[in-house]
Amino acid sequence: MPDTAIPTAPAGSGTPAPEIARIVAARRDMPGALLPILHEIQDSHGFIPEDAVPVIAKALNLSRAEVHGVITFYHHFRQQPAGRHVVQVCRAEACQSVGADALADHACRKLGCDFHETTADGQFTLEPVYCLGQCATGPAMMIGERLHARVDAKRFDKLVDAVREDEEARA
Ligand code: FES
Repeated sequence: MPDTAIPTAPAGSGTPAPEIARIVAARRDMPGALLPILHEIQDSHGFIPEDAVPVIAKALNLSRAEVHGVITFYHHFRQQPAGRHVVQVCRAEACQSVGADALADHACRKLGCDFHETTADGQFTLEPVYCLGQCATGPAMMIGERLHARVDAKRFDKLVDAVREDEEARA
């Protein structure tokens, strides 16, 4: 008889194991369950906790390496919690043709981190994105849920500084 129990993360691991197990159990029997499970875990936790990997692997009859391979293949999936604000800079073609590469370089310098990284103070995570539907008004970017068009280095600094000032004012 196959083992159908959903394993949970080790006690004391810090991972909300019951929530992970619930997500896995709800989707494990659907075709192509791995990606929907990973998306839901990231949506609910903000990243894919390491402890989730064996839980998913066992439920889907995959190896841990297979699950880990999918997580690392798609840059969308984070293995660490994101910063308090996610900055997404469009790297797609239309934005590239109007200066997105220069904006991307500037973003790295200004934030002091590379793409897929988080600033040392945990305030910003910098991520590439491939089209935000603003191709006619690029370079485009998002900070959190807010979309910004025609962003150059000066405007980038203003937007980031405004977020920093806002956070300081709330502290
Ligand atoms: S290419 Fe950047 S918004 Fe479409």
